[in-house]
Order: sequence, then structure tokens, then C-alpha cells
Amino acid sequence: MNTHYIDLIAKITQWDHEYYVLDDPTVSDTEYDQAFQELLAIESTRPGLVTPDSPSQRVGATPIQDYLKIEHSVRMLSLANAFSLEETYAFFEKALKELADNTDSFTIYSEPKLDGLAVSIYYEDGQLVYAATRGDGQIGEDVTHTIKTIKSIPLKLTDASPPKRIDIRGEVFMPKKAFEKLNRLALENNTKLFVNPRNAAAGSIRQMNPKIAAERDLQFIPYGIGAYEGDRDFKQHSDIMRYLHGLGFRQNPHCFNFESSFENFTKNYEFMAEHRSELPMEIDGIVYKVDDISLQNKLGFIARSPKWAVARKFPAQNQTTQLLAVDFQVGRTGVLTPVARLAPVFVGGVTVSNATLHNMDEIDRLGLYIGDEVEIQRAGDVIPKVIKVTATGETRSPIIMPDQCPICNASVERTEGQASFRCTGGLTCGAQSAERIKHYASRKFMNINNLGTKLIEVLYDTGKLKSIADIYQLKSEDIANLEGQGIKSAQNVLDSIESSKSTKLGAFIGALGIHEVGEESAKTLAKHFCSLETITKATLEDLQAVPDIGPVMAKNIEQFFKDETNQTIIADIIAAGVTWPDEIPPSPTEQPLLGQTWVLTGTLENLTRSEAKEILEKLGAKVAGSVSKKTDCVVVGKEAGSKLKNAEALGIKTLDEAAFLAAFKPIG
Ligand code: IVH
Repeated sequence: MNTHYIDLIAKITQWDHEYYVLDDPTVSDTEYDQAFQELLAIESTRPGLVTPDSPSQRVGATPIQDYLKIEHSVRMLSLANAFSLEETYAFFEKALKELADNTDSFTIYSEPKLDGLAVSIYYEDGQLVYAATRGDGQIGEDVTHTIKTIKSIPLKLTDASPPKRIDIRGEVFMPKKAFEKLNRLALENNTKLFVNPRNAAAGSIRQMNPKIAAERDLQFIPYGIGAYEGDRDFKQHSDIMRYLHGLGFRQNPHCFNFESSFENFTKNYEFMAEHRSELPMEIDGIVYKVDDISLQNKLGFIARSPKWAVARKFPAQNQTTQLLAVDFQVGRTGVLTPVARLAPVFVGGVTVSNATLHNMDEIDRLGLYIGDEVEIQRAGDVIPKVIKVTATGETRSPIIMPDQCPICNASVERTEGQASFRCTGGLTCGAQSAERIKHYASRKFMNINNLGTKLIEVLYDTGKLKSIADIYQLKSEDIANLEGQGIKSAQNVLDSIESSKSTKLGAFIGALGIHEVGEESAKTLAKHFCSLETITKATLEDLQAVPDIGPVMAKNIEQFFKDETNQTIIADIIAAGVTWPDEIPPSPTEQPLLGQTWVLTGTLENLTRSEAKEILEKLGAKVAGSVSKKTDCVVVGKEAGSKLKNAEALGIKTLDEAAFLAAFKPIG
């Protein structure tokens, strides 16, 4: 065996564990990426070497065609629900009565009830073999291909002497942040929004294509075991939980052991209700379990649920109320977002009087008018939203997008091809200014360390900072006289402004906050055009010719630089001393594919599509979505379809993945 290869696997597996299970990374992204690339390089030259627990094996080669059925060797149970403290207490009082001959009290183990999808993961001799959904409890669906993409699930248990067989049961869920990101992208791409993190997690796990699941930031936390053949004799449920953590799994946050009593259930519930919104994932209740396993066995189960565990559900998060008005909020990029003003209503522990309506298409879809009675949903600390009209109002008025910005009065226009409307006021719009200044000064862009968001807000409110160019006119006394500041902190701010002045072209372009031009697109623009002057003079066609710059972004860029206010602001910034070196155009030898158009088709085994695209674009090629006479070459993965046929019909050169990698993959 190649020891270097084995060491690499162990190293990357350990880093994954630190990052995804312990939330405590010990290496930089660059170091991680280098090791991963090295692993892929070894595996691409020695395919016979690849072991199933290699981190490269998380995303399988091909989408599955159909779900196989898997029979659980130990049934997957469900839980009885309790909706009040009284019901919870009564549940365990009844259990205690049944156990009267054995005990007169017991210890409860409490765990958050994670709101996701139940799965059972089967390991043999420490190696992940398959994973299945709960299904009807007896028979579930094989979801091994998507489960393996979840990095907090070890492919190999971290135990020197693992059990012969073990089913690990738990919940797959999507953390709130990942859910918000997914819906943000769906909104940008005009695709369907997910209703809640649970649906998003279930939809991701039941994907045929593991690559999609791999992009979804899912997590897994175990809450028990099914079949077990090993040498441990677990006495308590809490033992099992500790053991599973030792095998390499995440732990459920806020788990407690306490004596079963009315008072303790009350305290626990109050604690969880208070801390629920701080958790990174959605929980829909608390699961209380009898901790002692011999007592669990004595109690057994009834119908489909155990008599030793109950789910205390949080109250419903949906409520109906009246839509009183709709306001339009203007964000950093000038997008106007409709916000529902509601008759205040108590939902899931807080009073809600505002809810997001996303955009005008969403309002149309809901058929919503001011005056209607609506159902709103609050999911943890996700912003409440209107989910449907439950009754039309007696007097109803339509919701109309204003034609002038509510903040600066500039005209409002619909972004072509998109659901959003934007204020055209640019850097002169007050609503956009403070947010734009924060964006400009942020770490990713101009990186003005000591000019934080709070200070920007205060300086904006006091009129000292109206546009990004004003940053360079700040004087010590503008800051030193503010509450909580002094001469010293003012000097720190001025120093960091001074040292941020020498920057990079990509960072500066990104800092300007041109609609849709993020960090990556800004860097691409800088690399492609090499100087600010060339970018500002670029025509729509020039801009669209840049990889990753679509027609909408090209138009935004062109408009931004045409705007006279923007031109003045940029000139002022440059006059204040902000500089960057021009980028050096890549020499033709580094871009052997310059001017060529390539197409990717089928499933690649060692690369994701975007990695392959990136390699090609670095070499100067444009990557197109379909084959035409203009195509220079097609990279053909597994199960390629019509694009391959077209290429053959047109006599266009093709390369399989191995040949492509051999020719172009950067090593190291
Ligand atoms: S224990 C025999 N613990 O809730 C006990 N379930 O409503 C089986 N769930 O199907 C389940 N968090 O998908 C347990 N900490 C937790 C849980 C949990 C979420 C889910 C699980 C189960 C459903 C029952």
C-alpha cells in the first residue's frame, strides 16, 4: 500500500472531522485544497488504489436511476407527541406506574427535536455500507449516494476496534444559514423557493444526483442506534450518545440529564424555548427519553412509538392576521423589497408585525391585496413570511410598486429578466449609501479594519460620511468627538484608512458594489481587463465576452460606469490616493485555449463541472452550454447524451475525462 496516499486520506479525514463535527478547523483552506488536489492527482493516475473511505468518494460518479428499497433490521420507530407540560409529565407518570415493581423514579435525557429527515446509516467493520430513509419504519429507501456527501458523517468510524455491525440513527437537516443561502440563490435565479429547512433537507437527500446534495450544506446528528453487534454493553442512552460522538459524529446541542419531575420539565422547556432561536438549526420540540436502557426495554413500545420517549412539540408557528399595508425597503444594491405590515400577532414566542414578501412575483403568486387576512409562518429566527391568503379583505387595495424610490425619489425600474425592481439613484440614494459604505470598507474589499459597521452608521447619521469618497475626507475630530471614541481610536481609524489605500484592482471593483458584481466576478473583471480604464470603457459585447459575466451583469457594469455621479466619486477616491497595480495580462503560453469554445457533457468522475469549467477558463477557453459549429472541443463524461451525438455529427473533437485531466489538470 502506498503510505503517502493512506496518510493523505487520514489527514484530510481528520481535517473534515475538525471542521464539520467539532467546528474547530486547524488548517487553512489553501492547505486543505492543496492536500485534496494531491489526493485527486494520485487517484487519477492510480485508479486501482482508490479506497471507499477516501474523501474523494463522497460524491459518487453518476446519478442513481431509481431508489432501491432497504429493509431495516430493527424497526425505525416514531414518537408520541405531547403539546403541554401536563401531557409530558403525565406520559412519564404513566411509565413510572408500569415500572412500579422496578423503580420509583428515573432519569430523563432531553435532546432537541431536530426538524429534518430520519435516516439510518449502516456500518460494517467500521465502514459505511449504506444509508436508508425511515420509510414506513420497516422499509426505507436507499439514499447512500446523497448521505455520503454529508461531511459530518464519517465514511469510516473513528474507532480502533469498531463494532461488527451498527445502524446509526439520526436526523439529516439543513442549518438555518444554509437554508437562507439556498433560498437567496433561488430568488436570484428565479427558481422555486423551499418552504422550510425540513423540506429542503428532504428534497436534497432524495436527489437522484449526489452532486446536487453535495452543494447543499447538510448536516447529520445521531439520536440513537438500531441493530448493534459489538462488545459494548450500553447501560444508558447518554452512554450511547457519548459513544457515537467518539465514533466521529456531531453532538446534539443542549442535551441534559435530570430527574423526572414537573419542576424539571418546566425548567427544561423554558430553557429550550429561550435558546431555540440561537441554535444554528431548526428544532420543532424537545425529545424526552428514559435514560436507563434496561427500563426502556421493560417499557417497550406501543403501535409505532416507544413508551419510554415522547416529543414535546413547540406550539404552532403559523398564525393568521391582517395585512395592513406594504412598504418598500431599499437595500444596498437598490433593490426594492416589499415588506408586509401586519396587525401584530403572537407566533412561536414572539410578536410579529412585519413579514417579508420577497418580490412582486411572489405577491402575484399569493394573490395578495392590502386588507386581506393572511397566514404567516415563523421558522425559528428566519424572517417571518406570508404563506397564503386565508380570506379576502372586505375592502382590498392592490399592492403597487412605486415608480419613484421612497428614499431618494430617483426612478424605479424593473431589472430585465428578473423579478426585482431597483432604484436608479445609485450612490446618491441615501438608503444605498450607508450599506454601500459598509460594503466598501468590509474585509473582503477595501479591508478598512477599524472602520466598522457601527461607526459607519454613526458617521452616516451625523452627516460626516455620505458617500464612499467621504471616507478619505474624515478628520480626527469627526471621530474623536463621538460617544465611546477618543483621539487614539480616531487615529486608529485614520491609520487603517491610510494603509487600505494600496489595494488590488479586483478588490476595488468589488468594493464599488455594482449590482450583482461580487468578489469573484470583480476579480474576473480585473484579470480580464487588467486596468480600471479598460473596464470603464468596455462595451456591452466586451463585457459579455468575459467568462461568467452574463448579459444582466454586463448591463449593470456598463450603466454603473456611465453614471456621472459614480464617475466623480471614483475620481475623488483616486485623487485621495487609492492605488492598485494594473494586472498583468496572461502570456499566450499560459492561455493555450484562448479564443476557443469548449463544451462539457456527461458526468465527470474526478471533477465537478465547475472545477472543469474553471480549469478551461484559466486556460483561456470559453465554456458554452451547447454544441455548435463554433465548438472547438467537447469533454465527454459518463452517460453523455445529445451533446456528444451533436459533436459526432458535426465532426468536433472530443476528449474523455482521463485525457482531459492528463492534458490540462494542474498538479499540486
Ligand atoms: S428519537 C425510538 N430523538 O422525530 C425513538 N427522534 O417524531 C426514535 N427526531 O422519526 C426517535 N430529533 O426523525 C429522536 N433527538 C431526537 C430527534 C428525533 C428529531 C425525529 C425523528 C423521528 C421523529 C419522530
